[in-house]
Amino acid sequence: MINQLQPAAAVAGIYPATACAEIDLAAFRANVVALQAHAGVPAMVVVKADGYGHGIVECAREARVAGAGWLGVATPGEALLLREAGDAGPILAWLYGVEEDLAPLVAADIDISAQSVEQIGRLAAAAATTERRARVHLKIDTGLSRNGAPSYEWPHVCAAAAEAEHAGALEVVAVWSHLAAADEPGHPSIPVQVEAFQRGYEQARAEGLEPTLRHLANSAGALIVPEARLDLVRVGIAAYGVDPAPGIAALAGVALRPVMRLRAQLVNVKQIPAGASVSYGWTWTAETPTTVGLVPLGYGDGIPRHAGNRASVGWSGGRVPVRGRICMDQFVVELGAEHLAEPGEEIIVLGSGDHGEPTANDWAAWCDTIGYEIVTRIGSRVPRRYLNASQEDI
Ligand SMILES: Cc1ncc(COP(=O)(O)O)c(C=O)c1O
Repeated sequence: MINQLQPAAAVAGIYPATACAEIDLAAFRANVVALQAHAGVPAMVVVKADGYGHGIVECAREARVAGAGWLGVATPGEALLLREAGDAGPILAWLYGVEEDLAPLVAADIDISAQSVEQIGRLAAAAATTERRARVHLKIDTGLSRNGAPSYEWPHVCAAAAEAEHAGALEVVAVWSHLAAADEPGHPSIPVQVEAFQRGYEQARAEGLEPTLRHLANSAGALIVPEARLDLVRVGIAAYGVDPAPGIAALAGVALRPVMRLRAQLVNVKQIPAGASVSYGWTWTAETPTTVGLVPLGYGDGIPRHAGNRASVGWSGGRVPVRGRICMDQFVVELGAEHLAEPGEEIIVLGSGDHGEPTANDWAAWCDTIGYEIVTRIGSRVPRRYLNASQEDI
């Protein structure tokens, strides 16, 4: 017997004055406006994974205020959550499992990605139970080898979709795909994928489909690959003010404003003598007497353990190094011999970089990862404090 599955229980959070992630919604809106203006086509703002850690409902709302015609999510649950939160506009959901019932999505007028004859069949069945036409974005794999129909399946997928459309079960709204390396200027995959996409689109039309939308570009594509912009760009990371890779936004001449600022109070400050070692494993030892401070965030909150002894954080307009291993709930910074810090003083763990603090991409460099992973992993125990919410109705 299968146990009844329950959603994860609500997490008991950190006291907001002790540590919180400030989310600047004015910066988020400004990024959406700037990206849409730069791309010259409408944007689908991607708010999956809790808005890349920034809050799915709040970011979705502000994306609409900033003029985003579309929202993009991975899972059906995320799409339905947005409907429950009152979003009535176009939403695309693109990743679901083999056992998931698609009828609630069709009933909620969510656009759904399909990449196989089997998925077309499931969408047609969902349409029959809801007595609505499913709105479908057909996904072709143009070279990522991840989701999407491979070229040998594509004609069959298009034919099945055309038949279901003819029968009134669904409407093919779009043909779409995803780029592998748009954040690497000049990468050979880019022209290969753009051409494969064009071929796939023409095949879809040859099967009698008339999708009004073609979409291929992510943030990096929207920023620096004009030929991938087509009718709609799907922007995620750049909307949150994080460069898809260092230098990409500058190459496009677009100034992004980081949306998340993660701050914490020092909860303890102490002197340690020369020879004292810090944190689990004693991986760092003070050579001279110094002062250390305790930051109440750890890998349980998404601070990467890999960054122990490598990272530095903002304090008092400058940087102080992380000493020793990052623990589950806390880490130690060295404040220096002369500094007489007090508990309660503010540490900026990540932010815009304008006041000495590191950016998400700085953390990524310390951990051999990408800024996406840094912001998305900031955990649910960390309270979000929303600044500059729009007063506009949507
Ligand atoms: C299918 C798809 N489109 C668009 C995006 C947005 O990408 P980015 O955050 O690089 O803009 C993602 C994110 O991973 C995605 O999975």
